[in-house]
Amino acid sequence: MEFSGKTAIVTGAASGIGLAIATALAEAGTNVVLADIEKDAVEQAAHRLSGTNKQVLPVTIDVTQEQSVIDALIEAERRFGKLHIACNNAGIPMHGTRLVDVPVADWSFILGVNVWGVIHGIRHFVPAILKHGEAGHVVNTASVAATQNRRGTNQGPYSMSKYAVLSLSEALEHELEGTNVGVTALCPGPIATNLAQGARHRPDHLGGPETRPGAEAVMAERLARTGIDPKLVGERVIDAQQDLLRLRQRRPGRHDQGAAPPHRVGARDKLGDAVLARVLTDWKAGTPSTTGLPPASMLLR
Ligand SMILES: NC(=O)c1ccc[n+]([C@@H]2O[C@H](COP(=O)([O-])OP(=O)(O)OC[C@H]3O[C@@H](n4cnc5c(N)ncnc54)[C@H](O)[C@@H]3O)[C@@H](O)[C@H]2O)c1
Repeated sequence: MEFSGKTAIVTGAASGIGLAIATALAEAGTNVVLADIEKDAVEQAAHRLSGTNKQVLPVTIDVTQEQSVIDALIEAERRFGKLHIACNNAGIPMHGTRLVDVPVADWSFILGVNVWGVIHGIRHFVPAILKHGEAGHVVNTASVAATQNRRGTNQGPYSMSKYAVLSLSEALEHELEGTNVGVTALCPGPIATNLAQGARHRPDHLGGPETRPGAEAVMAERLARTGIDPKLVGERVIDAQQDLLRLRQRRPGRHDQGAAPPHRVGARDKLGDAVLARVLTDWKAGTPSTTGLPPASMLLR
């Protein structure tokens, strides 16, 4: 994937992983639309990024609302022309409450951001990428929680939403076979971000902002203690797109032959054991992990 002069949109770009992806893309020469529900934070992030030669545009978006996603796309195309890369990354946590005790409003919140946000991105960003015929890529941020429900964490709603993101990514990858648009499901382990405070961004139409002091404190402590630097994830997302391009150059027409890519990207050296990279086929084969974590924390095709 050639990044220079391309255009990307990253949702949830005001903080954490989204900001790191946006930064890595901008540093690679991509025009970046930073899209986030937090207006001030995304404008500040774009301002900080807009140094030498960096073309960035902050937009306010609520990924739970289809019209807001459409409006962000219109702004992106108005400013930069064609869209090539879409990172459906905005997400919120839902930990610490048993399934039977999760209020209906909270189910709507987690489904709205983590699942509908990705669905809206697929429905609108993907056609925008396909319509010009140039190479592109879709990155959907899932999680290591997309591969297991960990006992004792009461993160069922979050994990369910990330299984959905992984499944959507797999389906999208199937549907985009034969095109020059790649798909990555990003499945990080713990990353040091502001995720624990995710309910701060609950949109008004889903009940408005909220704090969950107990669950937030537990998660914030865990992410601070075990989480890796989001910067490394941003760089890994760039690598993943380059790896896919190299793979395709080595094996042109692999989709036509139905061949599984013999492709594995070792990220341990960069990210440590918390984040590995494997192709989906390896993950399906259940290759054992030496860390005790699920075998895949980042899946590439
Ligand atoms: N931090 C981790 O350990 C971790 C691990 C695996 C996956 N993830 C996933 O990474 C993604 C990014 O999370 P993060 O850890 O960087 O958290 P973060 O809270 O630092 O960043 C999330 C961003 O999403 C934005 N956002 C929230 N709701 C939104 C909405 N409705 N519309 C638009 N933007 C919205 C927030 O304003 C925030 O800037 C999420 O999908 C999360 O589930 C995080």
